[in-house]
Amino acid sequence: MITLALSKGRIFEETLPLLAAAGIEVLEDPEKSRKLILTTNQPDLRVVLVRATDVPTYVQYGGADLGVTGKDTLIEHGAQGLYQPLDLCIAQCRVSVAVRADFDYALAVKQGSRLKVATKYTEIARNFFASKGVHVDMIKLYGSMELAPLTGLADAIVDLVSTGNTLKANHLVEVERIMDISSHLVVNQAALKLKQVPLRRLIDVFARATQAKA
Ligand code: ATP
Ligand code: PRP
Ligand code: MG
Repeated sequence: MITLALSKGRIFEETLPLLAAAGIEVLEDPEKSRKLILTTNQPDLRVVLVRATDVPTYVQYGGADLGVTGKDTLIEHGAQGLYQPLDLCIAQCRVSVAVRADFDYALAVKQGSRLKVATKYTEIARNFFASKGVHVDMIKLYGSMELAPLTGLADAIVDLVSTGNTLKANHLVEVERIMDISSHLVVNQAALKLKQVPLRRLIDVFARATQAKA
């Protein structure tokens, strides 16, 4: 049995067509059922639904043989025990710095001010500001980052941006693009040795589907 870890929402939805290209279908709809283990039309393949941030943990410790996860999540988690064979080019977005429209970010940086930064992405933010030589007070959040500058919790946020609609709706402006993000296939390194044939076959399925889309 091969276990594939996915998170509900965009990762699940954008992974389905890649599987479908090889005739693989998930037989249950996670939006209609409370089940966390989903069967597929392949007797030796099942899907487990986990929180997006838990996908690397499941795969690292072998709770799943492979999974689909955002590069952002992967960088924050670290790559220990994970083989990363493929960029699936799905769930594309970027990690950016955003501030209130009335906050002069360029001036703050130029003057060497300490910056209060709220983010779920402390690892990415720490590395980015360190590379710029900007001192930061990091405030770890788990969601609704956009609220932080509006309430005075922080001067800036580091968060995902795609269309920019969320920033706009909260009167924030993007002042730096840190990196482009997409979702990657991650595979448990031990499983890859023990279940080499079926896992290589599945990696190949993803590779072909990704190439076909490009
Ligand atoms: P968590 O379980 O940690 O709260 P989440 O519920 O925010 O995570 P998703 O929103 O499904 O999970 O995000 C999963 C991945 O999809 C992210 O790690 C990122 O790589 C990508 N992603 C997030 N937001 C967007 C977006 N607006 N557009 C495109 N891709 C996105
Ligand atoms: C993500 C992310 C941003 C938003 C950016 O939120 O955390 O808030 O998308 O996308 P945009 O630039 O197109 O507006 P998501 O939709 O995943 O909601 P969440 O807060 O439940 O994670
Ligand atoms: Mg989200």
